[in-house]
Amino acid sequence: MSNIVIIGTQWGDEGKGKIVDLLAEDADIVVRFQGGNNAGHTLVVNGEQTICHVIPSGTLQGKTCFIGNGVVVDPAVLIEELDYLSSKGIDVGPDRVKISERAHVIMPYHKQLDLAREKKKGDKKIGTTGRGIGPCYEDKATRRGIRFVELLDPEVFSEKVKSILEEKNFYLENYLSVEKVDPDSVITQYNRFAQRLAPHVANISVEITEAIKAGKQVLFEGAQGTHLDIDHGTYPYVTSSNTVSANACCGSGIGPKYITGVNGIVKAYTTRVGKGPFPTELFDEVGKSIQKKGAEFGATTGRKRRCGWLDTVIVRNAVRLNGLTGLIITKMDVLCGLETIKICTGYECNGEILDDFPADLKILAACKPIYESLPGWSEDISKIRKIGDLPRNAIEYLNRIVELTQTPINIISVGPGREETIVVKNPFI
Ligand code: GDP
Ligand code: IMO
Ligand code: MG
Repeated sequence: MSNIVIIGTQWGDEGKGKIVDLLAEDADIVVRFQGGNNAGHTLVVNGEQTICHVIPSGTLQGKTCFIGNGVVVDPAVLIEELDYLSSKGIDVGPDRVKISERAHVIMPYHKQLDLAREKKKGDKKIGTTGRGIGPCYEDKATRRGIRFVELLDPEVFSEKVKSILEEKNFYLENYLSVEKVDPDSVITQYNRFAQRLAPHVANISVEITEAIKAGKQVLFEGAQGTHLDIDHGTYPYVTSSNTVSANACCGSGIGPKYITGVNGIVKAYTTRVGKGPFPTELFDEVGKSIQKKGAEFGATTGRKRRCGWLDTVIVRNAVRLNGLTGLIITKMDVLCGLETIKICTGYECNGEILDDFPADLKILAACKPIYESLPGWSEDISKIRKIGDLPRNAIEYLNRIVELTQTPINIISVGPGREETIVVKNPFI
């Protein structure tokens, strides 16, 4: 029996949703373990697109989906997503979608704080998604957060909201110069959310562990990417949770002994939304054409994604940080038509070659990517289903990724559709 973690190796939007939906066929349970509705995971099945922000990408395969304790949940967004999936005829009833009683709740003041702080920072902003993610994790760490278990207890909830808002409102009004939040209207609104979501709330840790012991297979779906990790990413231009594979255990309440494999998704080039360092970013026509061909717009905020060449320094970093057992390469079809494809093999910094990804953003800013050029291909590869049928140059590009990362490739994605995929080795088998 296998329990697999799927993680983004870059700065998010690597195609986790597509791959999790595909692999969910072999899973019994799909679990999100961190992040919140800052994520936007796109699934394309029979030509129809579905975007999920907080519900794991296993619903279209009819699988049970769990939202772990490590996730921060905006109940309004979750309810909207339940209704959206339900309107598509997908079963998202309380037996299918369960939320950990320990997951923290995103409150209206979290969103207000996120947006107002970003505005105040001006040029120095992080470029957050404005969904209240950072302020919610901040309250979790400082023990002022509200978990689902408290949301479901009207008395405790009301008391908490009132006392928290004394401090938050002072800060919102006097420091950030934005409107205060009215506790009574928040309490009324969230009591309604609680009633609607109560049947979905469960002890996820117990349910996953029991399922694993009964021989079920679990797929853990990461959000964001390794270089947006709060500890290991390009701090402070990161999100507020640990995005690396180890958090699959912490964020869902299971022991590491149950994880049998970790697959890292690598987009065949690199993208980033929001601010922060990006050594292989392209500012020329090639970058623009990748952005256009890859339809690189944020699935959550609609912002244009910054585009650049594949950076194997960061992929190697992701191999180490996540203990990757395999790679999944996505969006290979987007590179078709380029005469030459560049791949970054290392960084040069003040005359020295760097082997490791630097923590110091000043050093990172001084790094110049060292590129290798490989010949491209012009054939449309989106209908190819066997690796051997790919153009020779595409195979050489993939082989070079394997050499540079010392990690095997399990899957190659050649289009957004579930079927537009070459499975070299199913990670579940
Ligand atoms: P996630 O956040 O990692 O789930 O990725 P997103 O859904 O935000 O962004 C990935 C985008 O690329 C989505 O629009 C997908 O439908 C699309 N996509 C995924 N794999 C492929 C692929 O192999 N080729 C192409 N052309 N598009 C893909
Ligand atoms: P998925 O799961 C890409 C980025 C934001 C910003 C930074 C902090 O779809 O890959 P936050 O709102 O989390 O405080 O913003 O992180 N970011 C993402 N970028 N994909 C995501 O998720 C992201 N989630 C957050 O753009 O730079
Ligand atoms: Mg996304």
